[in-house]
Amino acid sequence: MERITTVAALQELVSKARGEGKKIGLVPTMGALHVGHISLVERCVAENDITVVSVFVNPTQFNDKRDLELYPRTPEADCAMLEKAGCTYVFTPSVEEVYPEPDTRVFQLGAVAEVMEGRYRPGHFNGVAQIVSKLFAMVAPHRAYFGEKDFQQIAVIRAMAAQLNFDIEIIACPIVREADGLALSSRNTRLTAEQRRNAPRIAETLFKSVTFAHDHTVEQTIQFVVDAINAVPEMRVEYYEIVDGLSLQPIKEWSDSNYIVGCITVYNGEVRLIDNIAYRRP
Ligand code: PAF
Repeated sequence: MERITTVAALQELVSKARGEGKKIGLVPTMGALHVGHISLVERCVAENDITVVSVFVNPTQFNDKRDLELYPRTPEADCAMLEKAGCTYVFTPSVEEVYPEPDTRVFQLGAVAEVMEGRYRPGHFNGVAQIVSKLFAMVAPHRAYFGEKDFQQIAVIRAMAAQLNFDIEIIACPIVREADGLALSSRNTRLTAEQRRNAPRIAETLFKSVTFAHDHTVEQTIQFVVDAINAVPEMRVEYYEIVDGLSLQPIKEWSDSNYIVGCITVYNGEVRLIDNIAYRRP
């Protein structure tokens, strides 16, 4: 594995590989890697000749300065995990390398970017679109891999890629969970011991809600989830929405869609956790 810090070096290596007819896969990350990220890298390695993993804590997607400061950074451990997973190039640029000038682009990504995270984290998806579009332009991969824990992010990236005509296959990979159900997240390391003990209640409630939904309305199911999680010490649901899996617009009746996903954000103390569950898949 080679570590690269400049855009010029990255572009030289990937364009050489492309010229040799090699398939290039990209896994964008913000580091603090865990088994969930490694599952994306392993899939990328299995499906491509060259795997590029970017490790960059992108400042433009943090609408909360404190969240950016507290975001975990573990560069040495990240590199060791990536090497073991078979990554070809790890790209670890500085902020100045990625943004030599401030990125003033404002994306209009439509309704998928306006609901849920779009409403609660203004500017977040614009920052995601800025960095991912830059990475897509730098690497020009054949395929790019994202985790389904950030379910809405994938829809936003697809919208951005379609708008900018990137010819890149965007591959959504399943959520990886701890044995107790907690969705893996770099933010989990910030939980206190008690918060960590309680955290699996999020997934547990979402799983139970699938059975609950069989004989309850959408509205009742939302209430069931919100009440159960808010009853856990230190937990507060920011939103729980049951949406169409493609448009991400809320549904009213179970018959409204054949692809239905519940998306949740919960503050566990001051750590913001997200998760989601499919009620119905096409
Ligand atoms: O999901 C993430 O870790 C980030 O939003 C991404 C896609 C790497 C862009 O910074």
